[in-house]
Amino acid sequence: MIFIQLNYQPLTCLSAFCLKDTDTKGRFSSPVLDVTEKQLIIERNQTLQLNCRGRWELQWVLPSGVPKVFHGTQIEETRCGKKNNHYCSRLILSPSLAQHTGSYRCRYRQKHRKQASVYVYITDSQRPFVKVQSEIPDVVYMKEGELLVFPCRVTNPGANVSLVKYPFIAPDYRNIIWNSRQGFTIRSPTFFYIGLFSCETIVNGVKYSNRFLTHRPVNKILDVYLNSTGLVHTLQGQMLALNCTVTAEWNARVSISWTYPQKANGSATIIRRISRSRTNMLFYSVLTIPRLSKADRGLYKCHVTSGPSKRETNTTVIVYNQPFIQLKHRDGPVVQASAGQKSFRLTPKLRAFPAPEVIWLKDGMVAAEQCSRYHVDRFSLVIRDVAEEDAGIYTILTGIQQYGLFQNLTLTLVVNVKPQIGEKTVSSRQPGTVQRGSRQALHCTSHGVPPPQIQWLWHPCPPKGFPLRL
Ligand SMILES: *[C@@H]1O[C@H](CO)[C@@H](O)[C@H](O)[C@H]1NC(C)=O
Ligand SMILES: *[C@@H]1O[C@H](CO)[C@@H](O)[C@H](O)[C@H]1NC(C)=O
Ligand SMILES: *[C@@H]1O[C@H](CO)[C@@H](O)[C@H](O)[C@H]1NC(C)=O
Ligand SMILES: *[C@@H]1O[C@H](CO)[C@@H](O)[C@H](O)[C@H]1NC(C)=O
Ligand SMILES: *[C@@H]1O[C@H](CO)[C@@H](O)[C@H](O)[C@H]1NC(C)=O
Ligand SMILES: *[C@@H]1O[C@H](CO)[C@@H](O)[C@H](O)[C@H]1NC(C)=O
Ligand SMILES: *[C@@H]1O[C@H](CO)[C@@H](O)[C@H](O)[C@H]1NC(C)=O
Repeated sequence: MIFIQLNYQPLTCLSAFCLKDTDTKGRFSSPVLDVTEKQLIIERNQTLQLNCRGRWELQWVLPSGVPKVFHGTQIEETRCGKKNNHYCSRLILSPSLAQHTGSYRCRYRQKHRKQASVYVYITDSQRPFVKVQSEIPDVVYMKEGELLVFPCRVTNPGANVSLVKYPFIAPDYRNIIWNSRQGFTIRSPTFFYIGLFSCETIVNGVKYSNRFLTHRPVNKILDVYLNSTGLVHTLQGQMLALNCTVTAEWNARVSISWTYPQKANGSATIIRRISRSRTNMLFYSVLTIPRLSKADRGLYKCHVTSGPSKRETNTTVIVYNQPFIQLKHRDGPVVQASAGQKSFRLTPKLRAFPAPEVIWLKDGMVAAEQCSRYHVDRFSLVIRDVAEEDAGIYTILTGIQQYGLFQNLTLTLVVNVKPQIGEKTVSSRQPGTVQRGSRQALHCTSHGVPPPQIQWLWHPCPPKGFPLRL
């Protein structure tokens, strides 16, 4: 219970506190305490008395160690000043105890930011730490990029406290800041600071300690993998199973959820598994839809969260009514290539599900067996170093045995060949002399695809002795 007494006796004047009452502007814009020091040191069982004065109604904020309801706390509020136009408040704490050590603040009830404070140490040789250690060490959370604080505040500002890691390793003190009001602060905590720590001090030959267990929440998602990304083609009535695998740091906890078209119907069953490897944690979530319907087509997303970390991956599922093969000419039934071309590809338009088997025939025989320059790439036939003999009738046979689906398509390949004159390839004869009036036959053999047209041209010989030499 807090006793509030109204006390109209004038306050005892203490130093700066009872300055003349000239109510000039700016004075008491914040409340004023009767102690000018930033800190006070008193002994256990002594009475702590603090006076506060201001222009508006006042309020005290006490250290967390002072119970909200404590018979030792008294607050006396009065009107004060020459014209009684000020507010005064006196805090009395008796007996004061080590756990009451902390910051005492007086502020305006309506303007919390306007405040005055003093830090009070209440020394107790049997209680050097503000907090008494319980059986279980306190847990301190470590976060990446943040300071790590072991909050072993002390009741005596002169206390000599050391930080020890169990089992008895002294830390590197260059990285550590001691503050009697806060404890030990580690500026950039490393892995060294994971474990059991103790703040220790010796008073009159007795060792006191405050123990802490640091915990580093792990939220690192290393990888999210869906066993089929891109498009998944399936058939109505078939089973769909998607396996979302998450790799995370050791000790991490992740949650995996799915969004999918028929989620509202709850048509999927989801099974979760966790396993550990030497270095990582693996989490699996396998979504299964036993019999797909048309409505199940669409986007499937696997969402992964671990603390503030988030990742997701997706795949699109296409559901066909039934298996099918659609096979059509791309550029009509006749295609043309040129002899000497590096490669030529015969590619009809093919859409099918599931993937069909494909065989190419040339003139009724399996193409790949006829010539080493032929090979099947996915469902196209590729001809390397096109030659005249590659011209012919090609047939693509497609089939999905399981469903008894077959489709054939025939194409004609025309290979164009540049015209060539046969005689030019034989050694060209020197122009000979023939008898005037005799009958001579000149031969020209030519080949090409399409067949070339032959045209003769006659170039008259230059007159004898031409050009003239004069
Ligand atoms: C404070 O008071 C308690 C009980 O009133 C007494 O047992 C204790 O010895 C006192 N401590 C000091 C430091 O005076
Ligand atoms: C802390 O150590 C210093 C130097 O060793 C000593 O002067 C001081 O009295 C010690 N303080 C306490 C509270 O034991
Ligand atoms: C899911 O995939 C992982 C590999 O990515 C595999 O190890 C695991 O066994 C799969 N889960 C199931 C239930 O098949
Ligand atoms: C994905 O994983 C599930 C479960 O392990 C499996 O049944 C399914 O066949 C896999 N899908 C692909 C495309 O590998
Ligand atoms: C899923 O729910 C929708 C709306 O409630 C309904 O129209 C649809 O038929 C359901 N589909 C299945 C497969 O149950
Ligand atoms: C699906 O995933 C891809 C790459 O993983 C991403 O680019 C795309 O935006 C995602 N789609 C949706 C709808 O989330
Ligand atoms: C496709 O060709 C194969 C072999 O020539 C033949 O047995 C089959 O009947 C043909 N199928 C169709 C649908 O034309």
